[in-house]
Amino acid sequence: MSDWSPTQYLRYAGHRLRPALDLLAQIPAEAPQSVYDLGCGPGNVTRILAERWAAASVKGLDSSAEMLAKARAERDLPTNVSFETADLHTWSPASQVDVLYSNAALQWLTQHEVLFPRLLNHLRPGGTLAVQMPRNHAAPSHTSMLEAASNVGLLEELRPVMRLHPVAEPAFYYDVLAPLAAKVDIWETTYVQPLEGDNPVVEWTKGSALRPLLDALDERKRAIYQAEYSRLTAAAYPRRTDGRTLLPFRRLFIVATR
Ligand SMILES: C[S@@+](CC[C@H](N)C(=O)[O-])C[C@H]1O[C@@H](n2cnc3c(N)ncnc32)[C@H](O)[C@@H]1O
Repeated sequence: MSDWSPTQYLRYAGHRLRPALDLLAQIPAEAPQSVYDLGCGPGNVTRILAERWAAASVKGLDSSAEMLAKARAERDLPTNVSFETADLHTWSPASQVDVLYSNAALQWLTQHEVLFPRLLNHLRPGGTLAVQMPRNHAAPSHTSMLEAASNVGLLEELRPVMRLHPVAEPAFYYDVLAPLAAKVDIWETTYVQPLEGDNPVVEWTKGSALRPLLDALDERKRAIYQAEYSRLTAAAYPRRTDGRTLLPFRRLFIVATR
């Protein structure tokens, strides 16, 4: 995967933070000793985990050098937090842990039928796996990525980096986790996000799902593709009367106790 832009991702830090906190609020652990933030990105959520569980060792893991550099450069980090490079496809802890938390990251990984049971098995009995992933891949913000590629003749070039269905139905995760867990709690929330500026949907997806597609193109093709994607999303997400644009965004939450 191409590397991440912490600056672009953090443009909508407020909207992106809310589901992270909604997930955190449902974790029952009171005094965990070992907490991992899987795909921690710029580390702003890892800090919140460390503040909630001040007596725990809290580690943020990510595969992006740029994201980890941003996370480590933050000032006044709690002393119980640290950051490590890891590829979550292969990562495993040295011993079983209390909390595995992951906000908006596991949708970038494949083979969830293998990944989720593996993560659950890294927990001590009674430990918690808490995951939030976007599940808005049927929304125009995402279907327009495919449509734009088709409209400008870039479908073949972009198809290898397109991830059309990275997150499965809620029942899939229930079926995968329930045989191994004491309790599985799953829910979805659609956040109706008012965004400022000119076609902010493009700015939003440039910080996440659109990024690997833009990175796969040379400068000329990127400009053509982005213009077509912008045209489609501007039509799908018109400005409201107050000048803002609403981006409804559905997210899937999973809290499993081993
Ligand atoms: C959308 S960001 C989420 C960051 C953070 N969790 C938050 O809530 O703000 C997704 C992160 O997952 C990381 N990531 C993607 N694939 C990964 C992998 N295989 N191993 C580790 N991290 C990965 C990316 O580098 C990126 O920082």
